[in-house]
Amino acid sequence: MARKRVLVTGGAGFLGSHLCDRFIAEGYHVIAMDNLITGNLENIEHLFKLEQFEFYHHDVSKFVHVPGKLDYILHFASPASPIDYLKIPIQTLKVGSLGTHNLLGLAMAKKARMLIASTSEVYGDPLVHPQSEDYWAT
Ligand SMILES: NC(=O)c1ccc[n+]([C@@H]2O[C@H](COP(=O)([O-])OP(=O)(O)OC[C@H]3O[C@@H](n4cnc5c(N)ncnc54)[C@H](O)[C@@H]3O)[C@@H](O)[C@H]2O)c1
Repeated sequence: MARKRVLVTGGAGFLGSHLCDRFIAEGYHVIAMDNLITGNLENIEHLFKLEQFEFYHHDVSKFVHVPGKLDYILHFASPASPIDYLKIPIQTLKVGSLGTHNLLGLAMAKKARMLIASTSEVYGDPLVHPQSEDYWAT
């Protein structure tokens, strides 16, 4: 039976690289996508020799194309530290808005399910730190 295929955006980052490891271990074909703005290829270097692993150096704020079928998209691309948010605020907003939009389009085209790990920056200027799951930015 053909392997299930998963796209992990932010695949060279902290959470994304661990997701790549886990999905490889579970027998998936893993496509990691990352523009390396905060990530590090060393996190996934050990996977490059595997034929069930691919890496795309790409900014998901731009149009995203992946050939072949896709079963799942895990959108974990985003700067994730307050230091980075201040250094690269526009990129942080773009990956959460345009990136999500582009990946939802891809998910629709491929009939894939998608999970988004958004940054809490989407709350704007929150009154609660850190935000709990029931905080709606009021
Ligand atoms: N680490 C945590 O404890 C935590 C907690 C809650 C939510 N999150 C969220 O999970 C996500 C990932 O966090 P992390 O800790 O792995 O961060 P990270 O910085 O280690 O990884 C993010 C990855 O996304 C990549 N990236 C950023 N913009 C991109 C773009 N436009 N196109 C392609 N790749 C891009 C970076 O290069 C990096 O490799 C973020 O949305 C973060 O807010 C993380």
